[in-house]
Amino acid sequence: MNKELRKAVIAGNWKMNKTPLETAELINELKPLVKDADCDVVVCVPYVDLQTALYCAENTNIKVAAQNCHWETSGAYTGEISTTMLKEMGVEYVVTGHSERRTYFGDTDITVQKRTRAALDAGMTVILCIGEYLEQREQNITFEVVSMQTKIALEGVKEEELDRVIIAYEPVWAIGTGKTATAEQANEVNKFIRELIAELYSPEAADKFVVQYGGSMNAQNAEELLAQPDVDGGLIGGASLKVADFATIVKAASK
Ligand code: 13P
Repeated sequence: MNKELRKAVIAGNWKMNKTPLETAELINELKPLVKDADCDVVVCVPYVDLQTALYCAENTNIKVAAQNCHWETSGAYTGEISTTMLKEMGVEYVVTGHSERRTYFGDTDITVQKRTRAALDAGMTVILCIGEYLEQREQNITFEVVSMQTKIALEGVKEEELDRVIIAYEPVWAIGTGKTATAEQANEVNKFIRELIAELYSPEAADKFVVQYGGSMNAQNAEELLAQPDVDGGLIGGASLKVADFATIVKAASK
C-alpha cells in the first residue's frame, strides 16, 4: 500500500457549534494559517452557517461541507435538507453516518446508504463515518461492525465513484471523550477498511482511497496518528473549533 498515492484530508466537524457570525470569525482567522497546506482542508458546518462559510472560504483552499443530507431531492420531510439545496448553494462535501446521527437521530445503515447514494448522485463528495461502540470493541467485533457498516453504505457505489468517497473511522468511545484510540488501534482498523475496499473493488482503488481517523484527535496527538501508514487524515470535532489547534493538525498532515 502506498501512502504517496493519497492526499490527506483534514476535516473539522463543528457539530452544533458556531453561529453565522462566529463562522465568519473562525474561517477568516483560519484562512492565512492553512493557505499553504499540503492536504485538503474541509470545514463541516451547521446548515445555517453554510452560506457564510462558502462566502468566507471563496477563493481559498478551504472546502465547505454540510453535516448531513436527505436522500430525496425534495418532498414532505420537515426539518430535512436535500442535496439539490446544498448543491445550488455551492456545497460540494457532505458528512453521512456520523455516530451522533446514528445514536441520537435514528440513522441506520440503510438510511446512511440512501444519504450517501443521494450525495454521490448529486455529484458531491461524501465523508462517510463508521465506527464501533465500546461494548462492540470489548466483544471483539470491531471488524465485523465496520465491515458491515462499510458494505451496506457502499452497496451500489461504483468503483469510478470512489474518488468522491472518504471513510472516517470514528470509534464511538473515542468521540468527545478525550480517549483517543492509540495510533496502532487507529491504523489497524483503517488498514482493515482499506483491505475491505481492495476486496470489494480492487487493490488500485484501495491504494487511492482516503481513510481518516476521528475521535479526540488534537494538536498534541495528531502527528503520531497521521504518521500511521493507513491514516490519511482526520475528522476533528472539539479541536476544530480552536483555530490554532486545527491549524496545527493541518500542519501535521502536510508533512
Ligand atoms: P472529537 O474530536 O470532539 O472527539 O469529535 C470527533 C468527531 O466526532 C468528528 O466527527
